[in-house]
Parts: sequence; structure tokens; C-alpha cells
Amino acid sequence: MTSYDTLTDVLKSRYSCRAFRPDPVPDDTISKIVQAARHVPSWCNAQPWQVTITKGAATDHFREVMTQTAQKGTVPQPDLDWPSKYSGDYADRRRACGFQLYDAVGIEKSDRAARMAQMLRNYTFFDAPHVAILHSPTELGPYGAMDTGGFVTAFTLAATALGIATIPQAAIAGYAPQVREHLEIASDRLILCAISFGYADENAPINTFRTTRADPADIIDWKS
Ligand SMILES: Cc1cc2nc3c(=O)[nH]c(=O)nc-3n(C[C@H](O)[C@H](O)[C@H](O)COP(=O)(O)O)c2cc1C
Repeated sequence: MTSYDTLTDVLKSRYSCRAFRPDPVPDDTISKIVQAARHVPSWCNAQPWQVTITKGAATDHFREVMTQTAQKGTVPQPDLDWPSKYSGDYADRRRACGFQLYDAVGIEKSDRAARMAQMLRNYTFFDAPHVAILHSPTELGPYGAMDTGGFVTAFTLAATALGIATIPQAAIAGYAPQVREHLEIASDRLILCAISFGYADENAPINTFRTTRADPADIIDWKS
């Protein structure tokens, strides 16, 4: 087995988990995830990422605050602009993964109430025992955010390699003011993304589907 095979195995076995078991992840396993993820590159090696991680009662309290915020219809105020539009292939892929999710749990596309209830599960962190909030300094702008995006991916891969399931969530970062206030994150940092994580409930129907990917030929634009 080459290291390419090993890496590809980890990349392919990662998926976004949307049902977790309640068991906490030991602190030293969480530290090991960060220990590995910090090796991603960043512009000027600034390493702009910081991660606020909840455990135990802190996760439950944060879960309550986020659920209440979403349930009362609070308008999201993300620190990073959300996409203005998905068109063409992007719209097709977005629709396809949404349908896979609803099919997995038996939600009819026409059932708006069930889709809304499923969407609100984001704010319960899908029952995960931990959530990580990733943030970067505002002064480093989009490149600080881009570098931290690499850290997010590495975090999910390192977790996978240790048997820990993850899901990155823009939905949580959408409530940036509430996240900042509740977790006391400094006002000069951009709240980029959450990662809920823990042990997967492997029997949960919502964890049974896997998304597809475009072929390399559709990604590479060779110039010769
Ligand atoms: C930056 C980012 C934000 C995401 N936000 C959410 C989210 O708020 N809720 C959700 O259910 N999934 C979210 N996802 C998961 C994506 O839907 C998922 O990565 C994509 O459909 C590909 O599926 P996979 O992760 O299972 O391979 C997010 C992923 C990324 C990378």
C-alpha cells in the first residue's frame, strides 16, 4: 500500500455525518486531530486558524442557544457572505445531494415542514457531543479564511483516520453574532465554520448515503 493509497482511503472514507452517538471523544484524541491538522500550509505560515471546542455541558448549552436562535427565525448574519447563487453544475450538484439526504430519511421533496425540521437538526449539532468553531483574524481577510478552510479539511481527515465522524457546518457560522457572544470569541476574528464531531451512529439512515464527485477530466483544464 503506497502513501497515496492510504491518503486516498482516508479521503474516500470521510463523509458528513448527520447522526452521532452521545459518547464523548477523549481530550487527547481531540488534541491528536489538531496535532495532525495544523500541518496544512498557510500564506506566510501565518497559521491563522483558531478553534473553539465545546465538550460536556458546554456543548449542551450551546446546542440550546443555537436551537432557540434558529427556531425563533433569527435572520442569519454570517461573517463571510453566503453564495449569492448556485447555477449550472453547481445547482445540479446541490440539488442532487439534497435529494440524497431527503431520500435517505424518507422525506418527500414536497414536504416543506419535514425539510425544515431536518434543516433545524443542524442546530442540535445532529446530537454530536462536541462542536468546533473555526475562526481566523479579520485582518487576514479572505486568505486567512482560505487557509483555515484547509485546516477544516485536514481536521475532518485526521478525525476520520482516528475513527471520529465529522460534519462541517456553515449553518452554525450563519449565526456569527450569537456564536461570538455565547463562546466569547473576539470581535476581530471571522467566524468561518463549525465542525460537529463525535462517534457516528452508523445505523442511522441519514448516515447511509454518499455523495458523488466530478471526474478529474471535468476538473482539470490542461494547457499545452
Ligand atoms: C464549508 C462547508 C459547510 C457546510 N455546511 C453544512 C451545513 O451547514 N449543513 C449540512 O448538513 N452540511 C454542510 N456541509 C456538508 C456538505 O453538504 C457536504 O460536505 C457535501 O454535501 C459533500 O458530502 P460529504 O461531505 O458527505 O462528502 C458543509 C460542508 C462544507 C465544506
